[in-house]
Amino acid sequence: MLIDVNVQADSYRVRIGEGIESFPARLGEYTQHKKIIIVTDSNVASLYASRLSAAAVKEGFEFNLFEIPAGEESKTLDWTGKIYSFLLKNGAERGTPVIALGGGVTGDLAGFAASTFMRGLPFFNVPTTLIAQSDSAVGGKTGVNLKEGKNLVGTFFQPRYVHIDVDVLKTLPEKEFKSGLAEVVKHAVIAGQGFVDFITENAPGIMNKDPEIMEIAVCEFVKIKGGVVEKDEKESGLRKVLNLGHTLGHALEAETGYGKMNHGEGVAVGMVLAAQISAHMGLSGKGLADSIRQLLSLFGLPVNLPAGADISKLVERMYFDKKVSKRKLEFVIPEEIGKIKIGVPVEDSLVEKALNEISL
Ligand SMILES: NC(=O)c1ccc[n+]([C@@H]2O[C@H](COP(=O)([O-])OP(=O)(O)OC[C@H]3O[C@@H](n4cnc5c(N)ncnc54)[C@H](O)[C@@H]3O)[C@@H](O)[C@H]2O)c1
Ligand SMILES: [Zn+2]
Repeated sequence: MLIDVNVQADSYRVRIGEGIESFPARLGEYTQHKKIIIVTDSNVASLYASRLSAAAVKEGFEFNLFEIPAGEESKTLDWTGKIYSFLLKNGAERGTPVIALGGGVTGDLAGFAASTFMRGLPFFNVPTTLIAQSDSAVGGKTGVNLKEGKNLVGTFFQPRYVHIDVDVLKTLPEKEFKSGLAEVVKHAVIAGQGFVDFITENAPGIMNKDPEIMEIAVCEFVKIKGGVVEKDEKESGLRKVLNLGHTLGHALEAETGYGKMNHGEGVAVGMVLAAQISAHMGLSGKGLADSIRQLLSLFGLPVNLPAGADISKLVERMYFDKKVSKRKLEFVIPEEIGKIKIGVPVEDSLVEKALNEISL
């Protein structure tokens, strides 16, 4: 299946349903360069790098593989510098393709390095996590973290082509898969009732990573994300809907320590918070929060703050989020399934009240 993402100047295609070993042949349609740089992480390297590399050699490419340690800790300026050095050492020049093989960390970091090295090398993405396949690989946001906060440095830089093999999700650890499911529920809440029905009906197939269902599902996720990005490439407005659940999500991730409550789990609880706030502000009926809770529970995702969470610290954290204006916390608020309001300022007292309601 092929999906076109039509962004200004550099539209690109996303292909879903071919194995990773067919990527090099597809790459040949986009470049004359025979030297390619593949960036991957330590987990994905041992699982899939040799399959991709062997296929690349068969297609006549000379590949150079750069491996980062797996995990969010590698999404730094320091590792960006190491990629630059690797590119130089291996004779990269303008036009040398850079390929990310991995999850959102690999894609964000390799994309950032590719977008800045010699003012931009052609970037290709072979995403291997559910988050990367259904969210981060489409949209062109690249970036790294600073010690002060997540994703504080980055660029908008669209890939030339994205190649998605849903079979690789089979080896994804359960916790990582669930993290992706939270983004899937988020996509559904944004997209509308039809998509909520689709994931509800196909929940068992999705949970079992059934390749046929995953192929259809990922295709739908890419269409939703691509559709939003096409309308607002640089996040001046509409694209902010994708941040639903993320204000609290990022705070929870940081406050509980990266790794304990992962990105998706934080986003899941964040969506419940946004729905609670919505009800209190009279923007939605109370039923919406219940529907979102039910949907999240169906996929085994959390709907409450972790035990012992410090509410005032969470509020403090949310003020650090770069997506928040200085004076008042702002939230992305669901009014109903498929109808989302962005940039809604909310009083601290109401945020605290809603946080208390989702405390165990
Ligand atoms: N650019 C965007 O628009 C965007 C959107 C959402 C998230 N993100 C970023 O994405 C990152 C999170 O992405 P992620 O969850 O993919 O993280 P990740 O890249 O760290 O991958 C999660 C874990 O799964 C492992 N892994 C990857 N593929 C595997 C496979 N097929 N089999 C077994 N193990 C595998 C990785 O080694 C890692 O340990 C965050 O840094 C977040 O900021 C970016
Ligand atoms: Zn997210």
